Amino acid sequence: MQASSRTITSNQAGPHDDLARRVARALAHPLRKPVAEHTRTAFAAAQAWREAHPGPLILDAGCGVGLSTRRLAERFGDHAVIGVDRSAHRLARDHGALPDNARLVRADLVDFWRLALAAGWQPARHYLLYPNPYPKAAHLKLRWHGHPVFPTLLALGGRLELRSNWRLYVEEFALALRQATGMSPLVEPHSPCDRCLTPFEQKYHASGQPLWRLVLDLPHAPGLIPDLQGES
Ligand SMILES: C[S@@+](CC[C@H](N)C(=O)[O-])C[C@H]1O[C@@H](n2cnc3c(N)ncnc32)[C@H](O)[C@@H]1O
Repeated sequence: MQASSRTITSNQAGPHDDLARRVARALAHPLRKPVAEHTRTAFAAAQAWREAHPGPLILDAGCGVGLSTRRLAERFGDHAVIGVDRSAHRLARDHGALPDNARLVRADLVDFWRLALAAGWQPARHYLLYPNPYPKAAHLKLRWHGHPVFPTLLALGGRLELRSNWRLYVEEFALALRQATGMSPLVEPHSPCDRCLTPFEQKYHASGQPLWRLVLDLPHAPGLIPDLQGES
């Protein structure tokens, strides 16, 4: 892995002016976009796998090549770990056999999260490791906390852990979380030492970039999404 990765540059100096309005809108108007058929099929397969692996669930959302999914499965041997990514190309990288308690799923999280909530999934832990930052101000709606699916990902509950090399992403996420739940997570520096969980973490750490994270225990709260059955 090369030890020179660019730091994030953004035309935003602080949290986006439109963040609170977008979060309020997402809370008031659940996402109605129809679920894509391929994600419905992928979810059904994941559901069947889950039934055969009934331990506490860990979601690795945006798992990329799935190394974190493997490492989490090794670290939490009594859990069932599902890594989800929309990139077939990344998921296809050969990193050896998956542990028995891990599964990789190709799916769009916007749909997968809605199906998971409608099916009553309650992850014990939920990782968002180095999500695409979309640092241009115009792209706020593509960041998870600016996206209409944000309340759904919170409603799943569990110990949510976000990591990023862009401090402002984590700070905005914390503001959005506070607005949606009244809870105030700490944004803290993250030092992976020699235990990097993902290739992006490895790359940023090796090039000396500071890393940031927040961790928050969320209740399972399907009531955050009015009219949940309309989404399944
Ligand atoms: C910056 S990469 C980080 C990958 C990995 N977590 C890591 O740290 O190495 C972000 C990942 O999120 C995935 N992703 C972005 N939007 C997604 C979506 N809507 N559904 C599923 N995966 C998505 C991308 O395909 C990409 O693999």
